[in-house]
Amino acid sequence: MDALTEIQQFLGCATPSGWIERAAKSDSLPVLLIDHANCEKKAASTAMNLMFRYVDRTDLLNKMSRLAREELIHFEQCLALMEARDIEYTHLGAARYAAGLREPVRTSEPGRLVDLLIIGAFIEARSCERFAALAPYLDDELAKFYRSLLKSEGRHYQDYLSLARDYAGEPIDERIAFFRGVEKELIESPDAEFRFHSGVPAEQAA
Ligand SMILES: [Fe+2]
Ligand SMILES: [Fe+2]
Repeated sequence: MDALTEIQQFLGCATPSGWIERAAKSDSLPVLLIDHANCEKKAASTAMNLMFRYVDRTDLLNKMSRLAREELIHFEQCLALMEARDIEYTHLGAARYAAGLREPVRTSEPGRLVDLLIIGAFIEARSCERFAALAPYLDDELAKFYRSLLKSEGRHYQDYLSLARDYAGEPIDERIAFFRGVEKELIESPDAEFRFHSGVPAEQAA
């Protein structure tokens, strides 16, 4: 099974066609790229937050350090693309997605760590799935960029998942299934805002 198929099976649903139609519109491109840049920046920052909180976990420190560096390179690639296309980097509020996923995170350890790692796996997996779903609708340069990201984000998904399994000390399949449901709901329900990880555009869902 190739990495993308595995990721599609890990996720509870495919990206709805309503989101793809909206993302493929040319006037969606600035928001898409700015939010994508923000997501890369946020991914690096999330990884570094884990490094500050869990200093005694060597495997986590190594994997998250490498991941943070890769995300920052992706961020720079987004910036370069925006600059080349004269897209101004304006302030854009975050999607409901990451906050919605984090809402049910447990407060006790290691539950908190395991939940954050499972959520990290879902965010990476969804990013991968969306890059692949979007690529056919983008111009050559962007499609090539998004396809190039598939590989590293696919590895990030696996890193998060294996860390979650290693640190849980118990089977986590039920917890993964729980977050799969939360993630699916965020992706499939109507969403007033269009972002890289938003749900079905509300104007189409209505
Ligand atoms: Fe990335
Ligand atoms: Fe990533």
